[in-house]
Amino acid sequence: MWATKLLLVTLLIIVVESKGKKRNTLHDYRKTADTTLTKHNKALEVKTKFFNTTENCAKRCSRNKGLSFTCKAFAFDKREKRCYWFSFNSMSAYVRKKYNTTFDLYEKKDYIRDCIHGKGSNYKGTRNVTKRGLACQSWTSMIPHEHSFLPSSYRGKDLNENYCRNPRGEEGGPWCFTKSPAVRHEACDIPFCSEVECVACNGEHYRGPMDYTESGKECQRWDLQRPHRHKFRPERYPNKGLNDNYCRNPDGKARPWCYTLDPESTWEFCAIRPCAHRIVNDTEITKDCIKGQGEGYRGTISTTYNGIQCQRWDSQFPHQHNFTPEHYKCKNLSENYCRNPDGSESPWCFTTDPNTRIGHCSQIPKCEASNLQECYYGNGDTYKGTLSITRYRLHCARWDKNIDDLKRHNSFFIFLSFFLLICILCFMYLRHTFKEPNISIIEKNYCRNPDNDVHGPWCYTDNPLVPWDYCAISRCEGDTTPLMGNLDSPITCASTKQVRVVNGYPAQMRNGWMASLRYRNEHKCGGALIKENWVLTAKQCFLSGDIDLKDYEVWLGVHNIYSKTEKHKQVINISQVVHGPKGSHLVLLKLSRSAVLNANVSQIKLPYYGCKIPEKTMCTIYGWGHTGTNNYDGQLHQGNLFIVGNEKCNQLHKGKITVNESEICAMGETSVIGPCERDYGGPLVCEENRTDLMQGVIIPGRGCAIPNRPVIFVRVAFYAKWIHKIVLTYKTP
Ligand SMILES: *[C@@H]1O[C@H](CO)[C@@H](O)[C@H](O)[C@H]1NC(C)=O
Ligand SMILES: *[C@@H]1O[C@H](CO)[C@@H](O)[C@H](O)[C@H]1NC(C)=O
Ligand SMILES: *[C@@H]1O[C@H](CO)[C@@H](O)[C@H](O)[C@H]1NC(C)=O
Ligand SMILES: *[C@@H]1O[C@H](CO)[C@@H](O)[C@H](O)[C@H]1NC(C)=O
Ligand SMILES: *[C@@H]1O[C@H](CO)[C@@H](O)[C@H](O)[C@H]1NC(C)=O
Repeated sequence: MWATKLLLVTLLIIVVESKGKKRNTLHDYRKTADTTLTKHNKALEVKTKFFNTTENCAKRCSRNKGLSFTCKAFAFDKREKRCYWFSFNSMSAYVRKKYNTTFDLYEKKDYIRDCIHGKGSNYKGTRNVTKRGLACQSWTSMIPHEHSFLPSSYRGKDLNENYCRNPRGEEGGPWCFTKSPAVRHEACDIPFCSEVECVACNGEHYRGPMDYTESGKECQRWDLQRPHRHKFRPERYPNKGLNDNYCRNPDGKARPWCYTLDPESTWEFCAIRPCAHRIVNDTEITKDCIKGQGEGYRGTISTTYNGIQCQRWDSQFPHQHNFTPEHYKCKNLSENYCRNPDGSESPWCFTTDPNTRIGHCSQIPKCEASNLQECYYGNGDTYKGTLSITRYRLHCARWDKNIDDLKRHNSFFIFLSFFLLICILCFMYLRHTFKEPNISIIEKNYCRNPDNDVHGPWCYTDNPLVPWDYCAISRCEGDTTPLMGNLDSPITCASTKQVRVVNGYPAQMRNGWMASLRYRNEHKCGGALIKENWVLTAKQCFLSGDIDLKDYEVWLGVHNIYSKTEKHKQVINISQVVHGPKGSHLVLLKLSRSAVLNANVSQIKLPYYGCKIPEKTMCTIYGWGHTGTNNYDGQLHQGNLFIVGNEKCNQLHKGKITVNESEICAMGETSVIGPCERDYGGPLVCEENRTDLMQGVIIPGRGCAIPNRPVIFVRVAFYAKWIHKIVLTYKTP
């Protein structure tokens, strides 16, 4: 069965290869980002020229046009737009790879891979023994076997040294004459690319070299958008192995797949050898704690972090879903245990609460903490380690490349404090919160915290979409010193300077900042406009691992989300989702264009970092969900809640929950008021000095509105500096 399939692939590949005329030549190359080659032998040749695209460099390399040597690889200087064509590749003698972010290296696959498609007539690897282990005879030698396969008569077939080749494209694959007088020639048994690495489970971890689909179509490079436009851009999915055009499974399909070069057929599965034993890497399996993102967690915890019972995976009630045990055979979706079948950030489950679809089980401890894993204390400004990778696995860029940004970022705050000098309190606040960056601690591309970021060490990246991010390192276990508590004097949350008011309130609609986050044209979550092109909302609204931003939009200036006559409505797409610091439950949505601010659409003010809200302050929540006992009528509802101090909040939760400094509690006075599903992401708004401030973000809690249980919100004042830093630095589209 398997053999016939491979044979079929062989035949089809030939057909498809012969008609692909407009094919992008880059498909013949393996890319290594931020790398070039250095040679230590004068005989090795290099030619260079200004050329504006990698595609043009590749074309010339493939055709050998204007080159006095056979081009095996090229490096592209991204800054100067210059190609460097090489007569060698990273496997050649006297050649080294060199990390340099100015360059991307592209090497012709035929020369570097150790596997074949079809009959292997393009194979140009360095295998030099036959299947029985006999040494190959050099193609230029006539001893012991005389023959007519001279390199000069097989141009382009690379009959070099004594490497196995198939110059005539015959059955049996690459072969060679042998050095043994008794055996004239023999095949070399070079494996098919579909067989060198097997697929276990759903193939999420497959990183093998197969780059043709099961019907023989060549795969499209993940980093190109032609012939098919798609969302799996490698920079967006850094953990999914989306290199070149190899078959991968970034989205939990049944098997690895790829987009094809056939404009008529968007994507197809690939035929790759399944592993004999359906094993998951045993070293990843844990029972009592979570390693990495907990994909190997096989313990029996079955409640979410906030205590909601999980739904059974084999049940479709109360929530319908595709994560059935049959679809995910290796994921052990048994009973109602917390699992991570889809590469989410931690194990999760559907919950038995009909109003809460998914809950994360982040209460399961991390294994790393006890494993002498690196960690930091406080805000990590004393961290001196050599970690250089962000939490979403992007490589850190060197600080010296970004030193201007770091200084500029700081001078903004100096500028700000100049204007706020009028207000002594604000000045003290700024002096405490925005110290000058400590440039003496930055080193190479190591994670550091030169600007006293409350949320730990971070670094710049080379990804234009992600100017900087926090590093893959956690606070040391047991380090619970408050991060906000060290301000000398309690400070107010809003400027004491009066804002111009009409009838006691700012001259605008009181909820003009309220945003409806829409998923496939249905209201999914609330949110708040904090800047003309940024909305703050809850991470919960973007739970599934792979999100397609095309499915989402933001509505502003609406009251009734069902009404067709909302004449002030602004509909805006989302261009980027920026995840909040670890544990924040927050995301910032960058809008694809700025909202038009007017009487119906406005920005809400944020509180100062670290400010304290007095207990009993009356605040308001807003949402289009089931607020209180009202029916779901599409109207924006609001409810009043008063602030409960964290200690009191813990008491009222009877010790089941410990609220920390990144959280804030509030509860209804008389009736049962509290947020519910579809309210998540919306704001808790409190007035101070006649200014509305967004003090909290609604996140899923234990059920909806339970009497005498304060609702827990994300404390915006704890994340205020993060929000400012993102808005200031994430400027590229
Ligand atoms: C690259 O250069 C060629 C000619 O030198 C020009 O026609 C082409 O538009 C340029 N492409 C880009 C992407 O700049
Ligand atoms: C990277 O290459 C460029 C261009 O050749 C060079 O100017 C730069 O110094 C190199 N950087 C490093 C870190 O070697
Ligand atoms: C095969 O090539 C390797 C290096 O690529 C070399 O060390 C070895 O001697 C070669 N073997 C034969 C039989 O030529
Ligand atoms: C299993 O995982 C460990 C560490 O993550 C890795 O070193 C090892 O190569 C993996 N083994 C297999 C068979 O994938
Ligand atoms: C799944 O995990 C549970 C709990 O660890 C274990 O009892 C069960 O045997 C596992 N099932 C399979 C098929 O591995």
